[in-house]
Amino acid sequence: MKINRIQLTNFRNYEALDLSFDDGLTILTGENAQGKTNLLEAIFLLAMAKSHRTNNDKELIQWDKDSARIIGDIETKNYTFPLEIQISKKGKKVRVNHIDQAKLSSFIGKFNVVLFSPEDLQIIKGSPSLRRKFLDAELAQSHPVYLQELLDYHQILKQRNKYLKEYGYQELFDDLYFDVMTDQLISKAVNIIQYRTSFIEKLNTYAKEIHHDLSNERDELRLDYISSSSKLDYNNIETLTVQFKTLFESALKREREQGVTVYGPHRDDLAFLLNGKLASNFGSQGQQRTIVLSVKLAEIELLKDLLGEYPVLLLDDVLSELDDQRQHLLMRRIEGKIQTFITSATIEGLELDQLENLDLYYVEAGQVVNQSKGV
Ligand SMILES: Nc1ncnc2c1ncn2[C@@H]1O[C@H](COP(=O)(O)OP(=O)(O)OP(=O)(O)O)[C@@H](O)[C@H]1O
Ligand SMILES: [Mg+2]
Repeated sequence: MKINRIQLTNFRNYEALDLSFDDGLTILTGENAQGKTNLLEAIFLLAMAKSHRTNNDKELIQWDKDSARIIGDIETKNYTFPLEIQISKKGKKVRVNHIDQAKLSSFIGKFNVVLFSPEDLQIIKGSPSLRRKFLDAELAQSHPVYLQELLDYHQILKQRNKYLKEYGYQELFDDLYFDVMTDQLISKAVNIIQYRTSFIEKLNTYAKEIHHDLSNERDELRLDYISSSSKLDYNNIETLTVQFKTLFESALKREREQGVTVYGPHRDDLAFLLNGKLASNFGSQGQQRTIVLSVKLAEIELLKDLLGEYPVLLLDDVLSELDDQRQHLLMRRIEGKIQTFITSATIEGLELDQLENLDLYYVEAGQVVNQSKGV
């Protein structure tokens, strides 16, 4: 899978950009704050219909303009088609092959990317909500159905919490009505957990092997999905519905007092274990970076299994942070197979010597100049 061309209009600091790409490696260099990450962000948006940096779409529109537009020409092994996103102050419109899509879920996943940026270290160090976001984003782009399940779950959760808050303390609390909501919630919860556990299981197989390689066979990596209650046994998924029912029955008093749903996938977490120990507590900076890199590379292989072709890889400012050996291993894995975009303030220190198909661009104030001829 690849992106052959991108056109930006009033997107961040790009007033008008029309750029064509080759299959192999594209390097974007330039000083700080010139638009390198903005360009990767635009490519990421074509896959996920949202930015990796902000939840506020209005920030993407160029200052003093009314709307922004991104068009990408995508090529998969079966089709070639344009994807289009238009962002205005009123909202977002998306098109696949010139056809308006009423739901974002029918747009997301038509084009697949894996992004690795410095903020990704937060997947290990940050709060559980960031890890859930990571799982949700990866599952959404590979399983469009998952996204719908997740949206449904959150809708029911919101209703249920509202009811608990308003009527939890009241005599007229309607048990029957509440039980129906709980059953609906459990049914969605079980589906979400099944998707997540099976995703993590598959990710583990690849991540373990890749990490072994990247850490010189020193460290063993494992990802563990952590449930919101020790009373839920995710290894026994067939009985999960019953487990949830029992748990919610025993938690009813507490839920009514607190006015909130205390168990479920919205409270689950993901643990990164290095030789059996939590990497967030015991891993060095370098070890944490290696874990994230391993997980990203594992995701690439997983998407390949699911889609039958590799996604596009976006490396924002991370290559220069890796030591020579890890850069080499990374390059060996992507070379000739995966269209890759790399941003870096300078190309010095990048291990790029043996690469063919290299396109070098210089980014300055929202303009992109091809410098490959000079290399
Ligand atoms: N909505 C917007 N309208 C106009 N310009 C914007 C908008 N949002 C961001 N910018 C500009 O884009 C710049 C950031 O660009 P970007 O993040 O791509 O930099 P970069 O080249 O990746 O730099 P670095 O090397 O520091 O990572 C900001 O400093 C700002 O000037
Ligand atoms: Mg940047």
